[in-house]
Amino acid sequence: MSLFPTYNRFPLTIISGQGTKVKDDQGKEYLDFVSGIAVCNLGHRPPEVQSAIQKQLDEVWHVSNLYEIPEQERAAGLLTEATNLDYVFFCNSGAEANEAAIKLARKHTQKEKIVTFKQSFHGRTFATMSATGQEKIQQGFGTLLPTFEYLPFNDEAAVEQLEGDDVAAVMVEVVQGEGGVVPGTEAFLKAVEQKCKELGALMIIDEVQTGIGRTGTPFAHQLYDLDPDIVTSAKGLGSGFPVGAMLGKEKLVDAFSAGSHGTTFGGNPLASAAVCATLETIFDEAFLEGVKEKGEYLRNQLEDELLSLPMVKEVRGKGLMLGIVLDEEAIPLVHKLRENGLLAVVAGPKVLRLLPPLNVSEEEMNKAVSIMQHVLHEQSRLQNV
Ligand SMILES: Cc1ncc(COP(=O)(O)O)c(C=O)c1O
Repeated sequence: MSLFPTYNRFPLTIISGQGTKVKDDQGKEYLDFVSGIAVCNLGHRPPEVQSAIQKQLDEVWHVSNLYEIPEQERAAGLLTEATNLDYVFFCNSGAEANEAAIKLARKHTQKEKIVTFKQSFHGRTFATMSATGQEKIQQGFGTLLPTFEYLPFNDEAAVEQLEGDDVAAVMVEVVQGEGGVVPGTEAFLKAVEQKCKELGALMIIDEVQTGIGRTGTPFAHQLYDLDPDIVTSAKGLGSGFPVGAMLGKEKLVDAFSAGSHGTTFGGNPLASAAVCATLETIFDEAFLEGVKEKGEYLRNQLEDELLSLPMVKEVRGKGLMLGIVLDEEAIPLVHKLRENGLLAVVAGPKVLRLLPPLNVSEEEMNKAVSIMQHVLHEQSRLQNV
């Protein structure tokens, strides 16, 4: 093996995928309720995105941001029309989108401190690792960037106490994803928004995991009517084509002038074709209404089937981003679910996370719930013998 062992990989090689289903190299089929961790929001190889990429493959792949890229302009238009934000910078990942947000906030405000929250996750670059409020992510890398401060999540009193004229921005997830699928409360998120106004700081919302329809609105902050200055996106943005984006308000546009920030690949024609086809499908009222309904349905089914088990404490989340909170380690259950044909992922040590494609069918949800029911009841039975 000549790969750095940055992942504990499951003993599974997926060789094909279509919609919510994937197949391994032994011919076994699985329901994929991971979606590449909230990436394949339209399932695997959605025809509208596949044909847009294929069409672009026949025209031109990459040209450099030194030239006009009409598809990139169109992708930016789809993002700004769906939000209260005015300008877009395309990059290649969530970390890069957050990196751009941090740079933009510091350059615009000419202040340095960025406040984030404990148990947050914002990425693996030096700035985004420093922004991440989890020691395990930061350990071993020496001195972090010194300008980050971490407050407890969902603690509006802590937010209200924040003061000082040195805060450039507060950066927050609407639902903490890697931190355990923890939805921010409305009171907390509104307190963050209010505090940013008071301090003349920018509100940055990291929607890398929650965005692109995952919670039933184009972006999750729209569930709470928040008006952030900057929003970051990646994961589902290109349906699996690697692409990220930072969206910002008009007042910020001059801080990123020619030469102040950039990227070789960001928003190239292939990526932009994938983004346009993805957003045209997902940012549709009826589609998003369907996500809300599916989210309610799945959550109710999970609650009905699992909450009676002593090991299951809670089902939480928004839309089709759901966490099943356990009072034991979740990873052994992920293995058992896989053996039974369902792919799920953990979020922290004791939370099972489900992120099905947003176009998952009721039949597929029923099947997934029945596998969960079988595996968790079996586990509970074994513990009681
Ligand atoms: C909320 C959030 N922000 C940022 C990131 C980093 O994104 P990427 O892995 O594309 O750099 C992630 C990835 O899990 C995330 O969930």
